Amino acid sequence: MREIYVGLIGLGTVGCGMIRILDDNRDLIEDRLGAKLTLKRIVDIDTTSERPVEFDRSILTPDVSAIMDDPEIEIVVELIGGYEPAKTFILEAIERGKHVVTANKALLAVHGPQIFDAAHKRKVSVQFEASVGGGIPLIKSIREGLAANRIGALYGILNGTSNYVLTRMTEEGATFEDALAEAQKKGYAEADPTFDVDGTDTAHKLAVTARLAYCSSLRYEEIYTEGITGIEPLDIQFASDFGYKVKLLAVSRDRGDSIEARVHPTMIPKDHVLASVSGAFNAVFITGDAVGDVMLYGLGAGMMAAGSAVVADLMDLARDNLSGVPQRVPLLTCRTAAISDRPVFPMDEIRTSYYIRFSAKDRPGVLSKISGILGSRNISISAVIQKGREIAGVVPIVMLTHEAREKDVREALKEIDTLDVVSPPTRLIRIESGDGPEGYWL
Ligand code: HSE
Repeated sequence: MREIYVGLIGLGTVGCGMIRILDDNRDLIEDRLGAKLTLKRIVDIDTTSERPVEFDRSILTPDVSAIMDDPEIEIVVELIGGYEPAKTFILEAIERGKHVVTANKALLAVHGPQIFDAAHKRKVSVQFEASVGGGIPLIKSIREGLAANRIGALYGILNGTSNYVLTRMTEEGATFEDALAEAQKKGYAEADPTFDVDGTDTAHKLAVTARLAYCSSLRYEEIYTEGITGIEPLDIQFASDFGYKVKLLAVSRDRGDSIEARVHPTMIPKDHVLASVSGAFNAVFITGDAVGDVMLYGLGAGMMAAGSAVVADLMDLARDNLSGVPQRVPLLTCRTAAISDRPVFPMDEIRTSYYIRFSAKDRPGVLSKISGILGSRNISISAVIQKGREIAGVVPIVMLTHEAREKDVREALKEIDTLDVVSPPTRLIRIESGDGPEGYWL
């Protein structure tokens, strides 16, 4: 049986998952592949720490040339994360004619075009299933399973840490800080969880996914990104009273000349299938013109889930090598010549419904002042709640709006926050409920 040699750079959680799967499911993989996948070298600066898997210590080295200079190694797996030295290693592997598997969402979001360009020139593949949605076969589904569809929209819960935090705040009334500490303890969060909770990780994953879904060279920098750090238990409670759950959502839609792509906390109806995605789970809801609605759901992080995606990529690349047809499936869904350079739709022009929470003095005339400013900008109110009594001189007033233009809402809030009866900052959460003329998704 032909043996295909693999080199691994970065022996962390996901790398250990890959090793365990290659070991535990060796027979099954060989039966499915008709070849052996052999891990020949592991490169990591830490060659001494205990790892949660058994492996031959003699193949572990801090020297990356042990992989790069070995002509027998056909596939390089990059699992160190971050921009450098990951980018240098990937480009070097490509230059040397080796295929690459990576889980590096940040690198692909920011430097993907350069990496795929190099891979095309050298006629090697770069596979990245583990970069988005952990073990969910999302990339393969978009690229192959949904290949016959024009994808109209894609909505994702793509960060397990944020979803875990919001779930704990919603279901147990936990504070943001306690819930985040638990997510870190459980190993969902990155070493520095800033990108998990500020929306950056979700935006990286949206960039990678939306490029495939819309055959677009979508620029990561243009994605509007807002995280969950400003969400308070009070907002989650009000959302529930109105029949919504708060999720950190990646929202994207094909608008013809542009691509809508944004990441922010979003209220979605409690009975929508995405609202039931709890804890560290991820899900992606896709609408295709032929297939209709599809939802993919699974563990978005963790040793075995991400390891499963890495090994599936290895098997795909091994098949390409066995058949002698690299890049049989275009890496970015479309042929390079068919990839469009459409801009991201301007955030100012987005139209959606809004949840707005003011902290205001409990005095006659306050509501009419606020609603007067909203009305002057064509923002129509659909519901108002004022609950409780003044605490520290203010009371929460919550308004829901009908669909309005983002720019108008922001300008109205700026003006409202200057009123002497309002104590800024006013909180704003977008609602996706499909009640507007643009025919949103639900
Ligand atoms: N920190 C990431 C998350 C891990 O919480 O989803 C997977 O990319």
